[in-house]
Amino acid sequence: MKVKNICCIGAGYVGGPTMAVIAQKCPEINVTVVDLNEKRIAAWNDEDVENIPIYEPGLSVVVEEARGRNLFFSTDVDEAIDKADMIFISVNTPTKTYGIGKGMAADLKYIELCARQIARVAKNDKIVVEKSTLPVRTAQALKNILDNTGNGVNFQILSNPEFLAEGTAVTDLLAPDRVLIGGDIDTEKGQEAMQTLVDVYSHWVKPDHILTTNVWSSELSKLTANAFLAQRVSSINAMSELCEVTGADVNEVSKAVGMDTRIGPKFLQASVGFGGSCFQKDILNLVYIAKSFGLNEVADYWEQVILLNDHQKRRFAANIVKTLFNTVSGKKIAMLGWAFKKDTNDTREAASIYVADYLLNEQAEIVVYDPKVTAEQIYADLDYLGTRSSEENRKLITVVNDPEVACEKSHAIAVMTEWDEFLELNWEKIYDSMLKPAFLFDGRRLLNKKQMKDLGFKLYTIGN
Ligand code: UDX
Ligand code: ADP
Repeated sequence: MKVKNICCIGAGYVGGPTMAVIAQKCPEINVTVVDLNEKRIAAWNDEDVENIPIYEPGLSVVVEEARGRNLFFSTDVDEAIDKADMIFISVNTPTKTYGIGKGMAADLKYIELCARQIARVAKNDKIVVEKSTLPVRTAQALKNILDNTGNGVNFQILSNPEFLAEGTAVTDLLAPDRVLIGGDIDTEKGQEAMQTLVDVYSHWVKPDHILTTNVWSSELSKLTANAFLAQRVSSINAMSELCEVTGADVNEVSKAVGMDTRIGPKFLQASVGFGGSCFQKDILNLVYIAKSFGLNEVADYWEQVILLNDHQKRRFAANIVKTLFNTVSGKKIAMLGWAFKKDTNDTREAASIYVADYLLNEQAEIVVYDPKVTAEQIYADLDYLGTRSSEENRKLITVVNDPEVACEKSHAIAVMTEWDEFLELNWEKIYDSMLKPAFLFDGRRLLNKKQMKDLGFKLYTIGN
């Protein structure tokens, strides 16, 4: 079977870029991305393509090429489901904040709502593809809902986890390390559905980069990949603390270790801690699954990756307080960067949120500058933590659109995101405008240490 119409439910960081690239590479397939969020869809349809709701290098060019030709954004979910022969589910699956599995398990309510909506609307056979990261065996749950509430139509469920990293989404999508497709390999219909999706990706991905597996292997591979990546960051961050007390330099250690071809150099950059919507959520999910099968040692092993990450964020914030003579009360601290990494406007689980919260508890006055994150988002992130009222957050944090203004008359600067533009700042001018002694806490090991010290900064970098 050849796909003619694709529908993607969820126009977020995964659904938006993925569908834009599919539409660009498969001009004969109509791709409709739907979302309940009207504001988000309106932004995807904005005449000025630079106003699309997600910032990713290269994305606006892809959207511009395909939008209106075979790429559409709409809030009419029913219509898009009805028309489609393949439906991607790319809705959010946050960690549960209530009930059983609170703080650990993935909240599947959005997925279930999608399944019920598909079951209600579908009049002909459909391939349903889970794209969001989901706990192992969700495909089975999806199938149960679809088979038992549907109109007698046949649904094939595939798992096709997304491995793109934010900030490099477009290049990751155009040249993926691999595309993983899990399906019902034991049946003819299952194999046919998998082949249909293989054919979509084959428009631009080489066959030896497309892996097909059973559904559960596919689901578990996604969690495993993220757990391994996060584990590397926590491993190097654990070493960063040891470096600080022994006098070793974590970058030198990282380089020496990464040159072992069995280990490799990637994901060994010490930092204030990993953020993003995936790492923590996926590991918590893994821990929850392991625990629910009574595999307590497995669960404890992976949980330590999160505990170390929390420790790293706390340690960074505590060090600011300690260094500023044990009090930051009433002191101005400039935070450069709020996004969880450079080249994205996504702030989910960003280390900056937790560091800011810690410093606010110590009554610091914080001024934030980030090139892509809005003030509204920064306040929303802090309000979501619930530590203090929304009014207090607005009183204690100021968001500015000029990094020099952020740093002026501050006691300390904390670099939270490795935006390239921070390298180009007039650091001499910034140093001169600060209160003395001027402290600089580089949470990303971004800046040139010698240059900063020569300018007069009291410098702290993670892992020396
Ligand atoms: C991750 C996975 O990389 C991707 O495959 C999956 O689809 C989604 O989750 P993402 O969260 O977008 O992608 O970004 P990633 O580049 O993995 O970075 C995650 C966090 O780890 C960031 O906060 C980053 O700054 C941090 N990090 C990464 C480090 O602190 N050190 C490193 O060496 C690498
Ligand atoms: P991700 O990073 O996984 O893409 P996002 O939160 O950026 O997550 O995007 C998920 C999108 O899914 C949101 O824009 C949300 O409005 C949308 N969504 C959630 N549930 C539904 C639903 N039942 N129907 C349509 N859209 C939905």
